[in-house]
Amino acid sequence: MTILKEKLPVGLCSDHAGFELKGIIEGYLESKGISYKDFGTFSTESCDYPDFAHPCAAAVEAGEVYPAIAICGTGNGIAMTLNKHQGIRAALCWKPELVALAREHNNANVLVLPGRFIEPEVALECVDVFFSTEFEGRRHELRIEKIPVKQC
Ligand code: RB5
Repeated sequence: MTILKEKLPVGLCSDHAGFELKGIIEGYLESKGISYKDFGTFSTESCDYPDFAHPCAAAVEAGEVYPAIAICGTGNGIAMTLNKHQGIRAALCWKPELVALAREHNNANVLVLPGRFIEPEVALECVDVFFSTEFEGRRHELRIEKIPVKQC
């Protein structure tokens, strides 16, 4: 079972604190033959996570990438930024059990990882679970439909 969509790359974004883990995840995706689009950052030079999170979120909303993975030091700043987009359900996770529930109950379309607080092996387990766990729908469908802020 996979949530990956044929012909749609996975979106990736990070700030400097997530740059190294983003590279590890890219290597993992390449080893599995999974295509991705990297929205940056592209070095460890200090930068601002919104500059990379907003384009990545917009690409998920536009159906250009699906799903996406985002990383900053704690995961909080980049998750806050992504979740400003009405079509984004970004879930900050640091263990596979959280990832499974974020998919099953929340239909998370962006996995957010805390680059400074997660071991690479655990992060890759999280990625596997993210890709392989389906949304349960049913009562959760009604709940996630209520998440977006309605325009008046
Ligand atoms: C960068 O130092 C750090 O503030 C950032 O990666 C993130 O943790 C913010 O939420």
